[in-house]
Amino acid sequence: MSEKPPSYSGPSRVFSGIQPSGALHLGNYLGALKKFVALQEDHDCIYCVVDLHAITQPQDPALLADQTREIAAAFLACGLHPKNSILYAQSSVRAHTELAWYFNCVARMGWVERMTQFKDKSGKDAERASVGLFDYPVLQAADILVYKGTHVPVGEDQKQHLELSRDIADKFNRDFNAPGFFPLPEPLIEGPGARIMSLKDGTKKMSKSDPSDLSRINLIDDEETIHRKFKKARTDQHPIPVDVDGLEARPEVNNLVGIYAALAGVSKAAVLTEFEGKGFGVFKPALAELAAAHLAPITENMRRYLSDKAEIDRILQEGSERAKAIAEPVLADVRKLIGFHGA
Ligand code: TRP
Repeated sequence: MSEKPPSYSGPSRVFSGIQPSGALHLGNYLGALKKFVALQEDHDCIYCVVDLHAITQPQDPALLADQTREIAAAFLACGLHPKNSILYAQSSVRAHTELAWYFNCVARMGWVERMTQFKDKSGKDAERASVGLFDYPVLQAADILVYKGTHVPVGEDQKQHLELSRDIADKFNRDFNAPGFFPLPEPLIEGPGARIMSLKDGTKKMSKSDPSDLSRINLIDDEETIHRKFKKARTDQHPIPVDVDGLEARPEVNNLVGIYAALAGVSKAAVLTEFEGKGFGVFKPALAELAAAHLAPITENMRRYLSDKAEIDRILQEGSERAKAIAEPVLADVRKLIGFHGA
């Protein structure tokens, strides 16, 4: 039996990224932003606006920088503390792309070919997808590992990419005889119940790419829009059930109850106790009111940040400098391990 290599013993560090592609919605807020920001209380956190990932699909050059600022504004509006946590744009730290190349030579074709997200995103016409879209998860591994990230808050859909990151870290450590050099990053994932689904189809994730704007609550929707969208949300003719078992075959109802629970910070069971037997004519307005009250301060903060681009740019720039200071020494060690001339 082979001996277990010594494992990583460095500090723990949280890393995650959000793509700057289009408007943020309630699913991004409850599933990502809110949780990311909460982690800063007891972890060192690095949060990255992943614009290099965004360009794996066509982006408008006239909009990309503003989309990046928008994600940064959302982080800040949700309470991210830029003095403690690091917030920056991926493309401003060249270390990501450099490490991604080294990892391209570590990762195996078979590993990347197994990634289901590429199959979903490339659709029927995979031949015409960019090479970057195929390579996306290798860049993601580089994002995390260039900071020796140990914990990665992500949605359920990113679990496979995290496994790939672990495989790459492990193979690098073995290939270059550097046991414990890279940590094997752990996903921080909440169960599928925590996922926010489309308001029009309870089996599909709430998504900015859904053609119907009624399928999602955007972070910048005003109160009236929020009320209208919940009113039009798909449900059925039965009342709110007594217990969570009664939600099982009712994905849309389950989703609305889940949203209420997440916003109120209580369990679904507690929501059902409050609303059991009531119809949607009662539940939907209550939900809309809760969502509007919750989102109003965030929307307002976001607008305020977006009206001062120079301030956002300053924060991103500072984050970028701090990120580089962590990544550069890691890359220097990587170059030495690979054996490059002059390293
Ligand atoms: N692929 C992630 C998503 O779509 C975004 C991302 C890019 C990411 N790099 C990352 C997430 C590194 C976590 C860690 O949600």
